[in-house]
Amino acid sequence: MARPPDLKTLGELKAAVGSGSWLDSRDGVEPFLTDFRKLYHGATPLVLLPRSVDEVARVLRICDREEVAVVPHGGNTSYCGGATPDASGSQIVLSLSKLNRVRQIDAANYSMIIEAGCTLAAAQTAARDAQRLFPLSLGSEGSAQIGGNLSTNAGGTAVLRYGMMRDLVLGLEVVLADGRVLHGLKSLRKDNTGYDVKSLFVGAEGTLGIITAASLKLFPAPADTATALVGIDSPRHALDLLASLRTAAGDHVTSFELMPRLAVQLTVKHITGVADPLAQGTPWYLLIELSSPNAQQALLTLLTAALEDAAARGIIVDAMLASSIAQSQAMWKLREAIPEAQRHHGASLKHDVSVPVSAIPTLIEEGAALVHRLAPEGDVVSYGHAGDGNLHFNVSQKPGADIKSFMARGPMLELAMFDLEESLGGSISAEHGIGRLKAAEFARRADPVELAVMHDLKRALDPKGILNPGKVLCVR
Ligand code: MLT
Ligand code: ZN
Repeated sequence: MARPPDLKTLGELKAAVGSGSWLDSRDGVEPFLTDFRKLYHGATPLVLLPRSVDEVARVLRICDREEVAVVPHGGNTSYCGGATPDASGSQIVLSLSKLNRVRQIDAANYSMIIEAGCTLAAAQTAARDAQRLFPLSLGSEGSAQIGGNLSTNAGGTAVLRYGMMRDLVLGLEVVLADGRVLHGLKSLRKDNTGYDVKSLFVGAEGTLGIITAASLKLFPAPADTATALVGIDSPRHALDLLASLRTAAGDHVTSFELMPRLAVQLTVKHITGVADPLAQGTPWYLLIELSSPNAQQALLTLLTAALEDAAARGIIVDAMLASSIAQSQAMWKLREAIPEAQRHHGASLKHDVSVPVSAIPTLIEEGAALVHRLAPEGDVVSYGHAGDGNLHFNVSQKPGADIKSFMARGPMLELAMFDLEESLGGSISAEHGIGRLKAAEFARRADPVELAVMHDLKRALDPKGILNPGKVLCVR
């Protein structure tokens, strides 16, 4: 069990990073104490902002010796409270934001080595500057950091084509709990040497080691893109359309996002400059993107033909194809601003769940019935990455509803939603992680043997329990 640091230890930790790289004033530490969704507010005696791997290693050696708990902190955009210290005031925060260099771009190898504190947007730019693509893409990419993306195994809007963050990793540099550095920054596609150790740290939310740098996969930069907003009557038609698009365009189908009409309405209402370009006001909208590195692919023609065919078969009701980059960006804004619009609209209950793609329509139908029964003060705003089987099955407070009674419905509805997705072979966390928010529920629902293996790994890599205690695994 970790224990509070004494004054001497705090002094040693400050010296380990040097002046200008730590904060201990009330105002200085404040931004590190509350999670993005404002679900948790913690306390800390010290925030450290190391500039090198050696400094991170020095910090962890001290923390290991003194048994002081460390909470790693990236861009603070996560949804499950994984980067927030607890309220005891005994956990120190380790921000990776100053470890933010692009160490190497190897265009011919389609790889780059980048430090944990780089924002996702900076990583995308570095790849673009080398005429390559780093494909992870999500709403908070301007602030989210690579270390956090790795630690939560982030998803986003291009998973259908490129996979989750785990699929984009070639190698990692990790500081272990005792301060040893695992130098695993190889940039190989083929490396069959024993266990896949790096994979343990992806999605571990800093509970097994602190990721300081990563070798990431790059891809050919897209030279042709086609984007469409499509109106449909039912999520069942979405599955039909996805299948025919994959037949017609194969791997060029990059994004396939589903939105209910209410999400579109909330975004148009609350976000400046957003408009609904579809005339018919169908119950569901799809945002579809095809992309290819081949400029001669004629994706717009391909997408137009696929949509015309779908219209003739009665699968889609309405569609608009973007005829400029500005139009495509406007369509993406309509999708990506949904969480912000929900925040402006009022309180919301969030469920980041996944099911097999084929079960999406059932999840939507049965989930809506649950909300109707268990949270009548709420409206369903279930949107997201339908092509990956991942919906943000969110519920927004109805206008004028009492916030307290609405929020009080949360725990019961969450249990029912999790039971539902479990009955459909799904997951309680599709892409937002476990953090503190879902740790208890994860412990209750995980396969007992798998959970025991996770605890064994935790004990092996962090025997004193100093790394992000209480996140992912409940302390035993
Ligand atoms: C998204 O896809 O917009 C986010 O992952 C979910 C959210 O912000 O609710
Ligand atoms: Zn999402």
